[in-house]
Amino acid sequence: MSNQAITLNTLKKMKHSGEKITCLTAYDASFAKVLEDAGVEILLVGDSLGMVIQGHDSTLPVSINDMIYHTANVRRGSPNAFIMADMPFMSYANVEQTLKNAGRIMKQGGAQMVKLEGGAPFVERVKQLVDHGIPVCAHLGLMPQTVHKLGGYRVQGRDDNSAQKIADEAQAMQDAGADMLLLECIPAELGKKVTKLLDIPVIGIGAGPDCDAQVLVLQDVLGISQGHHPKFHRNFLEAADSIEAAVAMYVQAVKSGEYPAAEHCY
Ligand code: KIV
Repeated sequence: MSNQAITLNTLKKMKHSGEKITCLTAYDASFAKVLEDAGVEILLVGDSLGMVIQGHDSTLPVSINDMIYHTANVRRGSPNAFIMADMPFMSYANVEQTLKNAGRIMKQGGAQMVKLEGGAPFVERVKQLVDHGIPVCAHLGLMPQTVHKLGGYRVQGRDDNSAQKIADEAQAMQDAGADMLLLECIPAELGKKVTKLLDIPVIGIGAGPDCDAQVLVLQDVLGISQGHHPKFHRNFLEAADSIEAAVAMYVQAVKSGEYPAAEHCY
């Protein structure tokens, strides 16, 4: 349990010292407190809330007001964890809209960072956010907001060209000033390569054990999510006797390198 406020500097130091960083999604004050008490450094108010809280079959219906509402709840429950909030689908369609909506997430929600899905076409938007003092996490690999374009939730970066594109876009995002990167559903080898390439912390979900940080959706960790379970899914509550113990087990498994194991990787 830590009462020290986690900042971007804390997370950057952890990357450079080799200490694994833990991240879980949170959408409300009660769970945010449980996660903070267990020592989870980053709470991600993900637009996955559209699926696990609102019951939609994708993240697309989530609004900017939904994100602000849930981020503010999480901030009240967890004064010390580092809070990152997703910019929902079509809330960053141009620079002006991106600045306006990211500003609202920071001011009204109390987030310390915004996350947006996208690579090269979003470089200017990332630069503008950074110029206005808003820390950014760029989400690459599988980008769930593009599910209909992709034709499903599929592993990305399997062939040489698409793997190189992800690595190049990761570098471009760091060069644009992004302070963090999130990689979803890519081969473990590519996760390792990008993590080594960048100076900023790299969070993985289904991106192998070598990323600086791991994230999972809280409902997956507690075994209460519906529908298809991807390979990286692990129900920690199965082997624990309380929610608090399951979260503590997740933290311990990430810190020790026990999670993700080979069976969770592509
Ligand atoms: O929305 C979310 O929870 C996410 C994670 C799955 C990485 O972006």
